[in-house]
Amino acid sequence: MQIAFVQTSPVFGRVRENVDRALALMSSAKADLYVLPELFHTGYLFADRAEARSLAEDPTEGFTVRRLQKFAAGQGAYVVAGLCEKAGDRIFNSAVVIGPHGLVGVYRKSHLFLDEKDIFDPGDTGLRTFALPGCRIGVLICFDWVFPEACRVLALLGAEVICHPSNLVLPYAQRAMRTRALENRVFTVTANRVGAEERAGKRLSFTGGSQVTAVDGEVLVEAGHEGEEVGVAEIDPALARDKWFTSRNHLFADRRPELYGVLTQKENGSCWRA
Ligand code: ACM
Repeated sequence: MQIAFVQTSPVFGRVRENVDRALALMSSAKADLYVLPELFHTGYLFADRAEARSLAEDPTEGFTVRRLQKFAAGQGAYVVAGLCEKAGDRIFNSAVVIGPHGLVGVYRKSHLFLDEKDIFDPGDTGLRTFALPGCRIGVLICFDWVFPEACRVLALLGAEVICHPSNLVLPYAQRAMRTRALENRVFTVTANRVGAEERAGKRLSFTGGSQVTAVDGEVLVEAGHEGEEVGVAEIDPALARDKWFTSRNHLFADRRPELYGVLTQKENGSCWRA
């Protein structure tokens, strides 16, 4: 199976241009699964919630999803793409999973970063996996990476490939995703963006460095930190079904969940208040 990151440089608010550019990049490299950055169609730095609402799309009928569906149908491929999603009065920082026959599903970002908390509603889909032909994928969006529980849950739910649309501004996630891959024996695809945005009194630079990692944490293909780029890696998802870490250590069977109860408590006293 060929999986690809598509590293783009969207211009804020120019949805048609951003989608055209992403599709041109995708057309330049053959893959079975393409992963695009977070909010790849809109750009990132919304001035406020009203501006995000004006650019948000319905994943069942919006412009961006229709264009991606046409590509997926033409190529017989799957696409995971960040989407500024409108759902009634709510707006989510989401990712859509699209296949040759249409929308497969939606994941809404669980862990909002910085001022995203003023723009988006917190994701309410929970952590989900999606069955594609030949592999099961899970989706995390950008800052979700910092919560290792999220990736673990997806692995326990059977995800073999973690698709990770991102707009990373800190320098840590690419390294951390190699560890997420290793500790869960999953493939990961981080599709980050490049470029900078200066709007509403803020400036952010995005770090590129998109990558595909193998189940041992090795980087199979990675992008630079500046240009637009597609990177494709050949993977065997069956490797991610084998959770033996050594001949006597199984990543899931050797866990001690009775020691981890505090993880599922909303408030656990001095552990985090201290
Ligand atoms: C991020 O979650 N966009 C850093």
